[in-house]
Amino acid sequence: MAEIIRQGNLFHLRNGCISYILCVMPENALAHVYFGRRLNRLDPDPVLRAAGSRDTGSFIHQECGLDRLPQEYPVYGLGDQRDGALKIDNADGTGAVDLRFERAETRHGKPALAGLPATFGETCETLTVTLADPCTGLRVELSYTVFDDCGAIARSARIVNAGAAAVTLRGAMSLALDLPDSAWDLITLSGAWARERTPYRRPLVPGHQGVSTRCGASSLQQSPFLALARPETAEEQGEALGAALVYSGNFLAQASVYQNDSTRLLLGIHDADFAWRLEPGDSFQTPEAVLVYSTEGLGGMSRAFHRLWEGHLLPRRWVNAHRPVLLNSWEAAYFDFDEDKLVSIAECAARAGVELFVMDDGWFGHRDDDTTSLGDWDVDRKKLPGGLKRLGDRIRAAGVQFGIWMEPEMVSPDSELFRAHPDWAIHIPGREGITARHQFTLDMSRGDVQDFVVDAVSRTIRDSGAAYLKWDMNRNFSNVGSSALPPDRQKELPHRYILGLYAVMERLTRAFPDLLIEGCASGGGRFDPGMLYYVPQFWCSDNTDALCRCRIQYGTSLFLPPSAMGSHLSAVPNHQTGRVTPLDTRFAVALGGCFGYELDPRKLTEEEQEQLQGQVQYAIRTEATRLHGSLYRLRSPFAGNDTAWITVSPDQTEAVVTCVRGQALANAAPPLLKLRGLDPRKDYRVLETGKTYGGEELMYSGLLCPLAQGDAASVLYTLKAEED
Ligand code: DGJ
Repeated sequence: MAEIIRQGNLFHLRNGCISYILCVMPENALAHVYFGRRLNRLDPDPVLRAAGSRDTGSFIHQECGLDRLPQEYPVYGLGDQRDGALKIDNADGTGAVDLRFERAETRHGKPALAGLPATFGETCETLTVTLADPCTGLRVELSYTVFDDCGAIARSARIVNAGAAAVTLRGAMSLALDLPDSAWDLITLSGAWARERTPYRRPLVPGHQGVSTRCGASSLQQSPFLALARPETAEEQGEALGAALVYSGNFLAQASVYQNDSTRLLLGIHDADFAWRLEPGDSFQTPEAVLVYSTEGLGGMSRAFHRLWEGHLLPRRWVNAHRPVLLNSWEAAYFDFDEDKLVSIAECAARAGVELFVMDDGWFGHRDDDTTSLGDWDVDRKKLPGGLKRLGDRIRAAGVQFGIWMEPEMVSPDSELFRAHPDWAIHIPGREGITARHQFTLDMSRGDVQDFVVDAVSRTIRDSGAAYLKWDMNRNFSNVGSSALPPDRQKELPHRYILGLYAVMERLTRAFPDLLIEGCASGGGRFDPGMLYYVPQFWCSDNTDALCRCRIQYGTSLFLPPSAMGSHLSAVPNHQTGRVTPLDTRFAVALGGCFGYELDPRKLTEEEQEQLQGQVQYAIRTEATRLHGSLYRLRSPFAGNDTAWITVSPDQTEAVVTCVRGQALANAAPPLLKLRGLDPRKDYRVLETGKTYGGEELMYSGLLCPLAQGDAASVLYTLKAEED
């Protein structure tokens, strides 16, 4: 059960597994004392002395006192020489802020964050601490929520200009976390298009390290996440601490090691190219950051994240609802289709049991390639003479639901929209526009652009009767400027863009509560907890090669759950790598997320088409366990030739085990996988072999996975607990 206990000058947030403790110091500095395994009580003095202070009585007026104090929301400029959570230009041009504890309030539940996605829930407790600068009147409200059911703390800050003069925020982090030692490895996720989210692990060293983006999106290259793991921490043992930002734009995730081997984590909106003017009375709400802690290794950390997102972030309507098995037209047809071709693909998919057919890019304007028509969301009558309505009706008549692709945040220079509203594109007046994929980004900070996008999407959904929308976004910012903002607010644009995007998402998800929206950004280029508040699933990567997907899905699972990963079985040779992998392996790997197809089923042999029927049935039958069960990573593709994982249903009566070999090996013994998460007292039958084993032997001795010859061989096993 979550609780917040006030013991004198200590605030102790805790639940069954974690504690988070802050302390009001004698001069009202707010110190951070502890985050980790649940404690019954704690004397803060040893922690504060270990931080290097000779005298814990005075930090503020002791020379360099603040530089050694672990703090909740530190600011550079009054003795703390480290990177701070808050950067500000005061009215007098100085940057110092003296934040002193003013008051604290606790409440049951969790208030929403104005204009921003955030975790929610009834079974949680929230502490709000107000700090104030006596000189300028600036106030900071720090918010902390502890949940009943997972080892997580949600944090955010609200900066209020309660002074008489305007100030400019130069940076406002969502969290700072001061830790007493630096004996940690830092883990981040980095990549590129078609190679998203590779984990990188290295020991912390003195100075700064971390990841960040400045491209306008959480990005293909980095993820708004970092983890600290003890050097000895392994997949299922040892301390691991994870931090993630519920945000989709520019971010900074930094770990810095300072004197006395102390570590400071900062996570929030990137402070480079950021400035936000606060008039008297104005406030600025930071996005939410989330901290999780586990003693069960990286696996425990991931499961804490998964549990938190599924229980407290993903859209309620969709989180546990059936996600239809879909077939997406992109790799089946690219831009080359007409109504009859799409209907014929959908009919073939329907025969295999596929439940939803999605028409991807190329249905509007005169878009026969990617050089044109974004923004002109009127159907191309040459391809679809009967319009969206007739196409949608014919697809539904074929026995599948209809879904549609849009890239609503973009405009092609060759479009009616751009010719009518060139100022709607992000640009710097007087400078030549820079296209990427032949397109500009619409300025989502503008109310008129937001209205246009809501209208265009609403009309498309109504006209087509679509049950599903693939919301794509395929370029980063450049020439960052807005014709709607005055010079002293231009650097607000990246954040205002994201606020505009969220406002649009809010309006659309309210207007179409039953519409399933899948996010996409050149694959997984904006696959972050911020987007997952609005869309329950995200296209994990444009790379559908089974072996590459093992790596991408493994890395993604460090902080995002299988239920959020769009994952499709595609044709061979694979369109991104040219590799040929067995159909069974492509199936087993695609089952690691929201399952679907990315191919033209008419081009499959009759035998393969029959296999598809079995696949769809299996995917539907095992959906709850695969998507919402507890995930245990058993073999890492980054550590060897095999990838393996198991998902176990909450009641431990069903499990799905997947093992994939990379390159074929001669004379190799089959993997003996030590399973995880089963009930050691239960017996489990492997449905594919008919053999029964005890849970304990499967976990402590292992399950043999004989692999066929050839590259990319795999085994997919379904375990069912025997009735007692
Ligand atoms: C990028 C996406 O990731 C692809 O799946 C596809 O929708 C294309 N865009 C369409 O342009």
